[in-house]
Amino acid sequence: MSIFNELKRRKVFKVGFAYMLIAWLVAQILQLVFESFGTPDWAIKTVLVLLATGFPLALFFAWAYEITPEGVKRDHEVDRSQPITTQTIKKLRRNTTSAEQLNSLIYKSRCKGLANWDLVESILASSARNNPEKGITGVLVVTETHFLQVLEGPFESLNATFERIARDMRHEGTQLISFTEIEERRFADWAMHGIGLFDLNLELKSRLCLKFGEDNGNVRLPSTAHEVMDLLNILLSEEQPAKATE
Ligand SMILES: Cc1cc2nc3c(=O)[nH]c(=O)nc-3n(C[C@H](O)[C@H](O)[C@H](O)COP(=O)(O)O)c2cc1C
Repeated sequence: MSIFNELKRRKVFKVGFAYMLIAWLVAQILQLVFESFGTPDWAIKTVLVLLATGFPLALFFAWAYEITPEGVKRDHEVDRSQPITTQTIKKLRRNTTSAEQLNSLIYKSRCKGLANWDLVESILASSARNNPEKGITGVLVVTETHFLQVLEGPFESLNATFERIARDMRHEGTQLISFTEIEERRFADWAMHGIGLFDLNLELKSRLCLKFGEDNGNVRLPSTAHEVMDLLNILLSEEQPAKATE
């Protein structure tokens, strides 16, 4: 790398230019102030000498140190192959898209055989065992024939949990509805909240069937993220939509 490029990469030119501009401004202002107070000539000369002495120091610091996301570092401690700004942006991006980024995953599947409360409770028991340590929260809606689940948590563990669930022989035809980044959890209080639509009261059942459709006498579980949230809002706002278990 040529000396010119290295000076540019270390922002020596920028710092030098900025220093001269600021020093000139400071000198102008001080000259005005000193004139109006009748300060002796040697005072402004001293300030000019101090400002001039600061110039090589500013260039030296620009050359020797770099401002990084971890603070000010000696230049040799920093990856020289990258321009400083790119490195800072990359570092910031890495922080926000790290494995800690919260995601939400929604899927729907068909139950092998007929679902019942025993099955729901066995799934919720596994969830209570595994989900908290993996940082997973969510909701599971179950009809006699289908599952609909919203899982939320950090990317890696969400992925691993979903893979495990998808291999479960108790269901089939897993259909991914959405997998998106989220800012905050919607179901933070639940390792897994189970809602069984087995013994719905008639009024609620016909309201849900009207809105989402009917499937062999059961409420049809929706296939879009938007409708899933509509369904969950209705179910969770009902005082006792069905027996609900945590
Ligand atoms: C529809 C459905 C949803 C499930 N959800 C979860 C879950 O959120 N967390 C979980 O650990 N297991 C869940 N399971 C169970 C897993 O597939 C698997 O059986 C279980 O995690 C095994 O762990 P265990 O040996 O501790 O029970 C689910 C299974 C089904 C069929």
